[in-house]
Amino acid sequence: MKKESGASLPVWVENVTLPTTHKLDNNLTCDVCVVGGGIAGLTTAYLLAKEGQRVIVLEAKAIGGGETSRTTAHLSNALDDRYTNLIKNFGKDGARLACKSHGRAIELIEEIAKEENIDCDYHKVTGYLFANNREQGEELMRELEAVQQIGWLDVVMRKECPLDTLTALPCLEFPSQAHFHVMKYLAGLTKAIVEKGGQIYTDTKAVEFKSGPVVTVKAENGHTVSANHLVVATNSPVNDKVTIHTKQAPYRTYVVALAVPKGAVPDALFWDLDEPYHYIRLLGAAARGSDKDLLIIGGADHKTGQETQTANHLFELERWARLKFPMAEEVEYRWSGQVFEPVDGLAYIGRNPGDTDNVYIATGDSGHGMTHGTIAGMLITDLIMGRKNEWANLYDPGRINFKSAGEFLKENLNVAAQYKDYVTPGEVEDKMHVMPGTGAIMRKGTEKVAVYCDQDGVRHECSAVCTHLGCIVSWNSVESSWDCPCHGSRFDPFGRVVTGPAIKDLDKIKKG
Ligand SMILES: Cc1cc2nc3c(=O)[nH]c(=O)nc-3n(C[C@H](O)[C@H](O)[C@H](O)COP(=O)(O)OP(=O)(O)OC[C@H]3O[C@@H](n4cnc5c(N)ncnc54)[C@H](O)[C@@H]3O)c2cc1C
Ligand code: FES
Repeated sequence: MKKESGASLPVWVENVTLPTTHKLDNNLTCDVCVVGGGIAGLTTAYLLAKEGQRVIVLEAKAIGGGETSRTTAHLSNALDDRYTNLIKNFGKDGARLACKSHGRAIELIEEIAKEENIDCDYHKVTGYLFANNREQGEELMRELEAVQQIGWLDVVMRKECPLDTLTALPCLEFPSQAHFHVMKYLAGLTKAIVEKGGQIYTDTKAVEFKSGPVVTVKAENGHTVSANHLVVATNSPVNDKVTIHTKQAPYRTYVVALAVPKGAVPDALFWDLDEPYHYIRLLGAAARGSDKDLLIIGGADHKTGQETQTANHLFELERWARLKFPMAEEVEYRWSGQVFEPVDGLAYIGRNPGDTDNVYIATGDSGHGMTHGTIAGMLITDLIMGRKNEWANLYDPGRINFKSAGEFLKENLNVAAQYKDYVTPGEVEDKMHVMPGTGAIMRKGTEKVAVYCDQDGVRHECSAVCTHLGCIVSWNSVESSWDCPCHGSRFDPFGRVVTGPAIKDLDKIKKG
């Protein structure tokens, strides 16, 4: 994986050896084609291979090369969208099922790690949701009532937070949460899939999808995979142009990781109720082969492509970290990533709306993509094997939830407002004003052009019009990418797709 300017690589990608994989170099057939080699795609492929299905995985980059390697890897059923909201949107039974499904996902990761002998530092931890002010203290009370209503009775209110530098106010304590080393886990899953007869092709971008009783996926190099079932686990579905993208919103989210003396911070999960929120996790010294623990602080989210000073979010996190953890030493890692927030709080997992019945998607992961991705594995495997799954309606991508209509409208008005960028002036009038290592949008007659100046001072131009549904991209200085403010597509400085839903690179500018 490439080191991007402003950010380092995430801690998980260091010192992990992935099994060797190759590019697709033939036309193949199988029972199930899975597109996407992150936690959702690989868990699905693993569980299907265990059922004896002939599985082929196609991954555009390397294993875990999407958001999975950018995670902070907590495994939690204390959901960020809060049980007060989930009860409102899905009723008590729905919220109870959501809690149960995430709890089951935590257990399944532990079971797979044991069964396949994957040494991924999986361990149980306690989670603490803490208040920063009295109003938030009242919110904690309401959340406690909500978890009690769904029957989660061992969640308790503690008068004092176990980390007194965080807050002097109460916190909610959630038992049986977990943490693990995600890339060690993916390396183990990859090996297990291949041992069970599955095939994994990396550096293989899927560019065309043909639905029907037999689905065909075409890779960029022209080779195809034909299958009885297709699972698109590309984080944001690249086979669905509109429907699902109106039901979720893309957010950039940030992480700083600082060395702390061994044992100085308890190994637990902490998160607060601020908007945007902060969270804390620990990677122990032994697990990372160091004499210091690594304090991982995340949050400071914002809508993708709607913030020009992205680096400020990393500075803000570091400032907060130093305020709350006076013992913190140097920052060892800074990274960012993207999450998709579903309008009603739960992921979309199951049959792709408006498609043939043998095409499945997994998206809308929010900050719980480790467990949502694992739920996707279980749920989609059941659908393909023709078994009933009690979570199927809850996560159905085709669901219409009238209780979240306000949120749906708000998100879609926000997207519509982004089209104003067609009539605004450019950020620079002349491409020579774009400095080395940066990018800016320039107006050229009626067109908007994305200009990137490389470190040697050479200016590269491409169309600023996102190839998904035509919004104007904006420069992200932390990741050196062009980010779309509408549905979260991202492109590298030269206009090549990094993240969908766009599947095509930004157009070249016609000379003259
Ligand atoms: C900073 C950060 C912290 C987070 N912390 C947590 C946490 O603590 N706990 C938690 O549960 N979740 C967390 N999340 C969320 C979680 O990391 C993600 O939701 C999850 O990794 C998504 O997994 P995925 O398999 O759906 O997607 P990805 O990991 O993105 O996998 C999709 C794959 O599809 C590939 N792909 C895309 N297009 C194509 C194509 N056309 N052809 C072939 N392949 C393609 C991509 O290259 C990618 O590898 C965090 C996310 C971020 C960014
Ligand atoms: S991601 Fe939809 S228009 Fe760009």
